[in-house]
Amino acid sequence: MTVNPADDLIQTRASRDLSFLDLVSIDQVTDKDFSLIMDVARAFRRHGTYKFDFNKGLSLMNAFFESSTRTMASFDLCAKQLSMDTSNLSSSSSSTTKGESYLDTALTLDSYNLKIITVRTREAGVPEFLARHVNAGIISAGDGWHEHPTQGLLDALTMLDHFKSTTLEGRTVTIVGDILHSRVFGSLVRLLKKLKATVRVAAPETLLPVGVENFGLTVYHDADAAITGADVVYALRVQEERGAAGFIPTLREYSKMYGISKRRLDLAKPDAILMHPGPVRRDIDVHSALVAVDERSHILQQVENGAAVRKALLWLMTSRLNGKKKEIVRK
Ligand code: CP
Repeated sequence: MTVNPADDLIQTRASRDLSFLDLVSIDQVTDKDFSLIMDVARAFRRHGTYKFDFNKGLSLMNAFFESSTRTMASFDLCAKQLSMDTSNLSSSSSSTTKGESYLDTALTLDSYNLKIITVRTREAGVPEFLARHVNAGIISAGDGWHEHPTQGLLDALTMLDHFKSTTLEGRTVTIVGDILHSRVFGSLVRLLKKLKATVRVAAPETLLPVGVENFGLTVYHDADAAITGADVVYALRVQEERGAAGFIPTLREYSKMYGISKRRLDLAKPDAILMHPGPVRRDIDVHSALVAVDERSHILQQVENGAAVRKALLWLMTSRLNGKKKEIVRK
């Protein structure tokens, strides 16, 4: 019997709804939301690039005030695979370069009756602020050093599928690199704690936020010790555009102390996986030979799972927004 992809999705969803109308932090994602997003993402992934008509007649705007490859491309492709109309606004082409505020830009975009606006900014808190003022559902595509919730969700999907489990209880996740400037860390650590993982971080003191241990994790300065016996080795990029290079003596020394080499990855458990949110800086964050070829590397699976998770969110959030009007403040 052939499965109708739309029926499969509807059955997987089983009349469940998300609890939120905007997504700006992992803290908003309840356990029920999380299992719904994971189930629907897996169903979309099974159907590849099949074009559904679930969101026909609805529009999405990617408002990216900072560069992106993965997040912007996947939101655009996923929206199109749900039959949405899409438009991409970048910082260089937006009127913010002429002095228009984020609020006025967002209000202008909202006048086009968009259903979803994805927002990426250098500053923390902008997506949350805009969510209070526009009718469209806001999805944070990463804000400053704060959070990148869809990245956290795709990372969780990648880990859970590898371990064939619904939690990460008994698993150790070691996050190595520029924790201080990382919004990926901000969302990932919140989800890892929800999923009951043991979390270790390894970084020079200068690339750790004050009070990071309050997340309930163990801080290491010795990357070898942090990686030994880990189930997941998650490398983060040194964010030179945020001035991170000024926090370390040289990139060469950083790579020697914290870069993921084959020798270092071999210290993890035999079935451990290597992850990185991208963009990877080859031979600084991760040795070139490990990025795309080593079977432990799940970096490209993360990208594939990003499409599945974002498609799930676009379908689930637009359904919720169709059924409930947002309460907004106009000023
Ligand atoms: N991981 C991530 O957010 O990548 P982009 O900056 O390419 O979107």
